[in-house]
Amino acid sequence: MSRRKLIAGNWKMNGLSGALGYFSELAPVAAGASADVLVCPPATLIHAAVQACAGTGIRVGGQDCHAQDHGAYTGDISAAMLRDCGATHVILGHSERRAAHGETDGDVRAKAVAALAAGLVPVICVGETLAEREAGRAVEVVARQLAGSLPENSAILDLVIAYEPVWAIGTGRTASAADVAAMHAAIRERLPDPLTTCILYGGSVKPGNARELLSLADVDGALVGGASLDAADFSAIIEAV
Ligand code: G3H
Repeated sequence: MSRRKLIAGNWKMNGLSGALGYFSELAPVAAGASADVLVCPPATLIHAAVQACAGTGIRVGGQDCHAQDHGAYTGDISAAMLRDCGATHVILGHSERRAAHGETDGDVRAKAVAALAAGLVPVICVGETLAEREAGRAVEVVARQLAGSLPENSAILDLVIAYEPVWAIGTGRTASAADVAAMHAAIRERLPDPLTTCILYGGSVKPGNARELLSLADVDGALVGGASLDAADFSAIIEAV
């Protein structure tokens, strides 16, 4: 079964003063692309991004959500709120949130359950640290994160996995094609629904390395951080599919 590719941009905590121009530049690229295109801006820009992307086919997502629908959770945003803004996806368990906010696999699973219940596609991030890779524990760590983070009945659910080795994020240091291929195969064989689940690679994906990474058999797309802030770079990555 063929899986539709997905190129997702994670703006992280960056606003773009030229966001409208960004989407105008991206729209024709997305229209002619062989992949679906997703942009995940900060929460304050989701509504504007959804409006700017209307009719373009570009999807808009959040970068996190709370596991509860509503309540006394100051500063948090629920999956239903993201959906009400027009978001279609939500990134969950990014290593920056696991590290800075102490998010556990159990937290990620609870958020994924909430996202699915709200009608969002969770993009569940996993990935090992450099120390874990150097200790030969990369697959063990990622397998544990998968087992703990995926909703229990994920065989029938619409979700995306993003493999992001922590040491490759924002460092300019990309995992080798061989390492990416091996990890994606290891992830796929552990998925309840290996044929249809989309597995993205993330970690210093740039126009210059996108084609090689995206040509690997088990790589169904990319989760792009820094390079997604520049419409020309992000477009070049989309066109590398
Ligand atoms: O979510 C995106 C990843 O953290 C990758 O970020 O492309 O800046 O390395 P990066």
